[in-house]
Amino acid sequence: MIKVFEKIKDIRAFVESAKREGKSVGFVPTMGYLHEGHLSLVRCARSENDVVVVSIFVNPTQFGPSEDYKDYPRDMERDISLLENEKVHAVFAPDVKEMYPEETLTTIHVEKLTEHLCGAKRKGHFDGVCLVVSKLFNIVNPDRAYFGKKDYQQYRVIERMVRDLNFPISVVPCPIIREEDGLAASSRNIYLSEKERKDATCLYKSLRLADKLIKNGEYNTKRIIDAMKEFIMGFESVRKIDYIEIVDKYTLEPVSEIKGRELIALAVYVGKARLIDNMEVQI
Ligand code: PAJ
Repeated sequence: MIKVFEKIKDIRAFVESAKREGKSVGFVPTMGYLHEGHLSLVRCARSENDVVVVSIFVNPTQFGPSEDYKDYPRDMERDISLLENEKVHAVFAPDVKEMYPEETLTTIHVEKLTEHLCGAKRKGHFDGVCLVVSKLFNIVNPDRAYFGKKDYQQYRVIERMVRDLNFPISVVPCPIIREEDGLAASSRNIYLSEKERKDATCLYKSLRLADKLIKNGEYNTKRIIDAMKEFIMGFESVRKIDYIEIVDKYTLEPVSEIKGRELIALAVYVGKARLIDNMEVQI
């Protein structure tokens, strides 16, 4: 039977007792409204650990004032039943007061890696992510933590934070899970109308286009980005391209030429949804 904890002291006691029995603990932090992307992380954690803990917490500190914190989809009952099917041992689902009982005076800011891509567009977003993830790491105290490459910048930022601050945790990256037509699974896909849902495939298709250009010998990143922009703007439901960048996949700094260690990443508004996607370059 899956155990659901709302209090920090209770999840701590659960993990402490598992560890006393010599069990390894895998942790999957989420904001809920679970889909196949989240479940792939859970399956990976299940295969590598004795005990798996999933957190469900829509973290207010990582949303900007004009972002979708209030509208963010939530369905705790469905999430818990999905996790029960995956044989997850424990869910940590605190309320906001439990996580933030008073004003937080501490900030965790990872420099450089947060200056481009989503970090440049969503000011303070990664500070909010780092804050909640450090708190969750200190609360859950796992051996391994699982992050999707769908949020590639988040994975790199957390990986660096763990290294810089000596968290005794291995950060495990997991591949992007897609719908049949290529759209990356996301809780925010629920915002899309039928027509927008069809047009949302333009993100993945533009990455495939970039891949084809690179395979044909186009290594100039500006020309690749221009071709992607032109392609995406041909879809009616696209309201705005937030960014398309080609960056070094370790430093996340923009590059002018493809060398084989890049990430192509984009954020596009389709209807009212801001969707992201990315692809690691292979040559
Ligand atoms: P959330 O968006 O719920 O995502 C939780 C985890 O699922 C993240 O590691 C994310 O990269 C992964 N994920 C989402 N969609 C995926 C997909 N299509 N394929 C593979 N992995 C996918 O990311 C967050 O929550 C929050 O920022 C959090 C880390 C929980 C901190 O609040």
